[in-house]
Amino acid sequence: MLLDMQEIRKSFNAGPVLHGVDFQLERGQIHALVGHNGAGKSTLMKTLGGNFADYGGRIRIDGEEVVLHSPKQALAKGVAMIYQDFSLIPDLSVADNIGLGRDPRGKLPGLISHSALRKRSAEEAEAVGIRLPMDTPVRQLGVAEQQLTEIVRACSQNARILVMDEPTARLAPAEREHLFDVMRQMARSRGVGIIYISHFLEEIRQVCDVVTVMRDGRIVETGAASAYSVPDLARLLVGHDDIVAATANATARPSSGKPLLEIEGLAVAGRPPVDLAIGAGEIVGIAGLIGSGRTRLARAIIGDVAASGRIRLAGRDLPRRTPQRSADAGLVMVPEDRKVSGLALASSIEENMAATALAPRLSRFGIIRAREKRALVESLIAKFGIRPPDRKRAVGTLSGGNAQKVLVARAVAARPKAMILDQPTAGVDVGAKGELHKLVELSAAEGAAILLISDDLDEILALSHRVAIMVGGRVKEVLPREGLDRASLLAAISQGAPE
Ligand SMILES: Nc1ncnc2c1ncn2[C@@H]1O[C@H](COP(=O)(O)OP(=O)(O)OP(=O)(O)O)[C@@H](O)[C@H]1O
Ligand SMILES: [Mg+2]
Repeated sequence: MLLDMQEIRKSFNAGPVLHGVDFQLERGQIHALVGHNGAGKSTLMKTLGGNFADYGGRIRIDGEEVVLHSPKQALAKGVAMIYQDFSLIPDLSVADNIGLGRDPRGKLPGLISHSALRKRSAEEAEAVGIRLPMDTPVRQLGVAEQQLTEIVRACSQNARILVMDEPTARLAPAEREHLFDVMRQMARSRGVGIIYISHFLEEIRQVCDVVTVMRDGRIVETGAASAYSVPDLARLLVGHDDIVAATANATARPSSGKPLLEIEGLAVAGRPPVDLAIGAGEIVGIAGLIGSGRTRLARAIIGDVAASGRIRLAGRDLPRRTPQRSADAGLVMVPEDRKVSGLALASSIEENMAATALAPRLSRFGIIRAREKRALVESLIAKFGIRPPDRKRAVGTLSGGNAQKVLVARAVAARPKAMILDQPTAGVDVGAKGELHKLVELSAAEGAAILLISDDLDEILALSHRVAIMVGGRVKEVLPREGLDRASLLAAISQGAPE
């Protein structure tokens, strides 16, 4: 047995999170670890990655009992990690970041020649078939490229055990397929044992041999992946039957024909201009491959990157936009990267919610009254199912999916006229995803105009009234929802793309 974790326990100040977990992994096995948001998946894997000096229980690797009290010790025993929230150094280049993780004995990149390091990093990326701009500072990359950098770094560490915590949460379908090939190759030809965490339950049967389901800090079940259907897994991880279908049918028609958000001739950095009008109550999906310019378009709309052209909201021009001015006018964006641009991790759930989005709503009373604020925050926590339901909890201590819910809740709560959601359900479990979809539909039903960027084509199909197809920085066409399915959508976004 490659890995044998026995009776693993871990508590934080707020209480126990892992209640004696047993987990086993064989050489060459791809083992899925699934569970609801906050079940304890990341905590179990962080334990294996040497992040806690105070865990209980025993860990054996290849029969040898090991103590993993630091990431360095874990790496020395052959454990490589891809963390759910990135651990890259933003100001270093892609090549440096890949190189950083390579030598567990801690050689600094400055000690070897830069060109040698760059060459090795490029070779390692190539070995797993991933292409990246090696000299670009990681800060300038999109989220997907950051994810790919993490993957190359982990793959290059010559690991016996590779932990991937939601590596596909921010990857488009084509990139996912490619990652699966890389995983199979590492498992089959190098005998690496892979632990794979994902909320995309369809992926489990496709790429994993074995699946383990966690709920509330305990293992519920382990078995051959082929023995479980997607609904089986969904039931097991939520713990009850009533799951809101995450793929509900497209909702009622938008309430008015009059456009609420008008984008006219919006051109970013020499790309062709974009024209798009979204009605009150309408949800327009934006589908495209990674690098097709979806996030950049969204940021140009709210004034976060420079662009020519004009934006009108409810008939009024929004000149000289900044994200703050746009938000004040009623146009908000929920960014895809919750860690960098979304949330203040050291602040509480309440402070994060009150910081921006709630302020305009509460200032109607002149001042933000503590009682009103508290009631509103608590209703949001309940409505969005944020766990634990404690408004004073620092956002940085929430599980990944729960932090994501805080981000979306904050925007929805402000009742904006128009809302841009960039990958709103990345990392959210099946149960919560359906709930989030209902809340987005509710915002639309209340008259908001919504732009929805998502790599999850089923999500686009479930929510959108129309779908804008982006290829190479421009909106190629805008299609009505009727008559679209997964395959036709995938064909549309892949067409005319490079490669
Ligand atoms: N540093 C911390 N301090 C306090 N509590 C924490 C800390 N890290 C995690 N927790 C708590 O431990 C529980 C399990 O979190 P964990 O991140 O392991 O969940 P998860 O299964 O990975 O969920 P997700 O699917 O949302 O990523 C949660 O209730 C979380 O709030
Ligand atoms: Mg997690």
